[in-house]
Amino acid sequence: MSSPKTIRWGILATGGIAVTFTKDLLVDPSTRGVKHIKHTVVAAASSSSRSRAEQFLKETGCPADAKAYGSYEELVKDPDIDIVYIATPHSHHYQNAMLCLDAGKNVLCEKAFTVNAAQARALADKAREKNLFLMEAVWTRYFPLSIYVREQITAGRIGPVARVFADNSMATNPEEAFHDGKHRLVNPDLAGGALLDLGIYSLTWIFQTLYLTQPENQRKPPKVLAALKNYSPTKAADETTTIVLSFPRPEEAGGEAHAIATTSLRVATTPGSEAAAPPGIRIQGPKGEIQVFPPAYRPTRTKIVLNDGTVEDKEWPQPGPGAGSGWYNGFGGGKNAEGEGHGMFWEADEAATALVEGRKEGKYESLAESIVIMDVMDEARKQGGLVYPEKIETTKYPTQL
Ligand SMILES: NC(=O)c1ccc[n+]([C@@H]2O[C@H](COP(=O)([O-])OP(=O)(O)OC[C@H]3O[C@@H](n4cnc5c(N)ncnc54)[C@H](OP(=O)(O)O)[C@@H]3O)[C@@H](O)[C@H]2O)c1
Repeated sequence: MSSPKTIRWGILATGGIAVTFTKDLLVDPSTRGVKHIKHTVVAAASSSSRSRAEQFLKETGCPADAKAYGSYEELVKDPDIDIVYIATPHSHHYQNAMLCLDAGKNVLCEKAFTVNAAQARALADKAREKNLFLMEAVWTRYFPLSIYVREQITAGRIGPVARVFADNSMATNPEEAFHDGKHRLVNPDLAGGALLDLGIYSLTWIFQTLYLTQPENQRKPPKVLAALKNYSPTKAADETTTIVLSFPRPEEAGGEAHAIATTSLRVATTPGSEAAAPPGIRIQGPKGEIQVFPPAYRPTRTKIVLNDGTVEDKEWPQPGPGAGSGWYNGFGGGKNAEGEGHGMFWEADEAATALVEGRKEGKYESLAESIVIMDVMDEARKQGGLVYPEKIETTKYPTQL
């Protein structure tokens, strides 16, 4: 067997998810049975200062010779970088991804991909023009759990999917938790609100079960009906959004299929104990349903319940360096068990594999699908009257944010 190919990453931004991603990225891939690639971090950049980038490299355990930059512009000029991971707020993804692509860098860009579909289309065009890899970092799609769910569907376990319910909501008191209005969940300048931040996962589950599982030439965009409640203190950011989707399908594939995507900053998918959590995702067909338990973005349990009485409950623990390693990861104050990965390495493995194979898009979410999902979010915002400031909706590049 040939030796693993090492992919050299540059990390653009040093906030919460950049830390979680980079720690996962540096876990030995053989701990999850991946032998053909390895990852290393050769540089990180912070828009605030070089010293912040230095601190980030230390905090995440990057190699001692990794370079620290005090601007994103310097990072994208680094000739040693194969691919840049973008971890800024979604308001900034378009400008940052354009910067990378223009400089000839492959890109893995955090979700939501962009603020609107026009920006997503412009990025896809630029990546094609430059012959570069570009993928939205919807990590959940690359989990073995997600692959299993899609396989159960295409194997016909529940029959043609007829309906999907998908919720991703977190109970906060936003007025208290984000009282100064600056947090990215409520700040219009950062494309705040539930839809782009949390609702993307509800849509991810609907799309990966109802759309991606269809033959490529049969996938059609859904009709959309949406209700959107604005968060009154900062005006342009949604607090709760509900979307009804109707997917056209050929009669022989089951005909029209429905889905409901819900998301909220104020009410929870799981009130109280995680142990008693109801499934946040229910994928239903004529023979039964597949349930996925919360959280929608990092699920670790599935259940298949069939009309014939079959029940298959499965746990999907995240691999990692293991107990006794003294290594920890987590996000936003949450800490996983010792040695347990967060699960962000799966998407990094896919991006690295694509580079090795010369592919320009991700295997489980094409750019065309990211664009259709952005179209759905645009339509939900249009029906709900949610418009962000022009400087973050624009496709004009460069625009100073
Ligand atoms: N996949 C997941 O599970 C997951 C989880 C959370 C968030 N996310 C996504 O990741 C992105 C970042 O989220 P986060 O939680 O990491 O946010 P965060 O902690 O606020 O970090 C964002 C970073 O972006 C940089 N930045 C540049 N311009 C900024 C500006 N005007 N305001 C704020 N930050 C700015 C800053 O880094 P520098 O100062 O170093 O430039 C900042 O630390 C969002 O798109 C979010 O949806 C994904």
